[in-house]
Amino acid sequence: MRTHRCGALRADHIGARVRLGGWVHRRRDLGGFIFLDLRDRDGIVQCTFSPDWTAPDVMELVAQVTTESVVLVGGEVVDRGGDRNPEMATGDIEVHADQLEVVGPARLEALPIPVWRTKGEDLPGEELRLLHRHLDLRRPELLQNFVLRHRLLQRARATLTELEFYEVETPVLTKPTPEGARDYVVPSRVHKGQFYALPQSPQLYKQLLMISGFDRYFQLARCFRDEDLRADRQPEFTQIDIEASFVSPEDLYQVLETLHVALWNEAGQSVTTPFPRLAFAEAMERYGSDKPDLRFGLELSDLTGLLGGRGFRAFDQAAEAGGRVRGLRVPGGSALSRKQVDALGELAKGAGAGGLATLKHQDGKLTGPLAKLEGMTAELAGLEDGALLLATAGPDHVTSKALDAVRRGAIRALELEPSRPHAFCWIEQFPLFEWEPDGERWFVAHHPFTAPHPEDVELLRAGERSGVRALHYDLVYNGNELGSGSIRITDPEIQLLVFDMLGISPEEADHRFGFLLRALQAGAPPHGGFAVGFDRVVMLLAGGESLRDVIAFPKTTAARALFEDAPTVLDQAELRDLALRVDNA
Ligand code: AMO
Repeated sequence: MRTHRCGALRADHIGARVRLGGWVHRRRDLGGFIFLDLRDRDGIVQCTFSPDWTAPDVMELVAQVTTESVVLVGGEVVDRGGDRNPEMATGDIEVHADQLEVVGPARLEALPIPVWRTKGEDLPGEELRLLHRHLDLRRPELLQNFVLRHRLLQRARATLTELEFYEVETPVLTKPTPEGARDYVVPSRVHKGQFYALPQSPQLYKQLLMISGFDRYFQLARCFRDEDLRADRQPEFTQIDIEASFVSPEDLYQVLETLHVALWNEAGQSVTTPFPRLAFAEAMERYGSDKPDLRFGLELSDLTGLLGGRGFRAFDQAAEAGGRVRGLRVPGGSALSRKQVDALGELAKGAGAGGLATLKHQDGKLTGPLAKLEGMTAELAGLEDGALLLATAGPDHVTSKALDAVRRGAIRALELEPSRPHAFCWIEQFPLFEWEPDGERWFVAHHPFTAPHPEDVELLRAGERSGVRALHYDLVYNGNELGSGSIRITDPEIQLLVFDMLGISPEEADHRFGFLLRALQAGAPPHGGFAVGFDRVVMLLAGGESLRDVIAFPKTTAARALFEDAPTVLDQAELRDLALRVDNA
């Protein structure tokens, strides 16, 4: 039906007779001439209709065609001469069109959101765009994200295939796989009263594949998690999921570094390896976060010695209760307005801190609540002129969370320049168990199949939870968690012990994970793996702000699919078939 794609035409095609198919991006009538900007997935080309070369009936038709209609156009590619448009890839040429066929007319009322906008015009609201996603996806800049996504997917496949990984598909109708979220469940019609769970990850299957001798597995795996949604979380998302046998963490780091170099290269970015490594405890101490943005300095420090016991009530009390005073020195921070500093205080409070105390050094003078402390000087506080000290006190888990938020907030407020474009790092030596301060219980920091550090197995056997390190590692990029993985437990006795320490009885363990426990007794190789949050990678490489920019049909933050309108109610007959009754109370 066509000879070329619209966006593919260049000066080389001058003189050629072409037939194009596309959407009417924009129509302009200019004194006899009618310009149609014709769009397809490759780009936009200007088609010019004029009584000089177009028959009257075609002129009449083109005068009536609505934007976003699908048309077939025939004509000749000509040089634009002095009218070149350097902003368009096809800007050297135009098509002198003499044929037009409207094959898919667009009705005005079917176009509640525009595709073409004037420069600088805001996008329609996101809800509206998601509701009319088929139109939203026509925006060339959004389409580009999916072109990148496609290329990254192919590159991931090729790279892992080269590294001798086999791609295997694992079930979607399955049994719960714990990854810390709630399950999406699917009722079984055949087995009334029984439910499948959609996988939170293929974790158990990939371990079973190792036990079966597949040696190296990968999958571009769809995962489902019913959890609170944010810009970087979707209920349904894609992982580059891998697992390998007879590997150390070193081997896995190498595979993942190779993969990330390839992905970044595909997006035209160059990154260097090896990625630096940071122990979890050190990351928490220096940045208050296990996903620090290492493009920036602004490290945290322990200020208990400097600010405790000097008569500042909140700090003295926290120190007496066994907590610490911690904070950060922000060079140039005295330039922040009162309002901006207050906003940082709100960030600290929002993260659970009592407040954020400040000390400002400007023009040789100290100001702020901490300036009144006994014997305080700029020298003592280590504050160069123009700097701002921000401090809070309390238990470490509170001060870390608060100061991480404050650090990120200060970086934003001061619009600091990153020291480099790409800061990857490995975070390692995570604790195996974490104490939930409010819930008063231990929970597993990642999933319960993570191997303890060999040096800490004795602690574990002695019933200790705190201080047991895990062979777990996260990959962090510019302050975002890209992925995580671990070496797995292969000793069924240790696996049962970990279940036991999480309050899972042997009976429950058998019911939930019996298939894994039996497999582990059938000759299990040492193995480990990793999962990369693929949507996050695409979002970061596409410069998007939300996963919704890189998922074709995403859910809203309320976990609704607006476009296709899901979830929906089932009618009585369907419910009866599934032996379900809905309690609308
Ligand atoms: P984890 O739960 O850390 O590990 O997930 C791995 C990566 O997946 C991404 N991710 C998400 N992306 C979008 N929306 C979500 N709701 C979401 N949840 C997670 C993140 C995260 O780092 N089975 C283990 C991996 C392993 O041990 O091999 C797992 O799933 O980028």
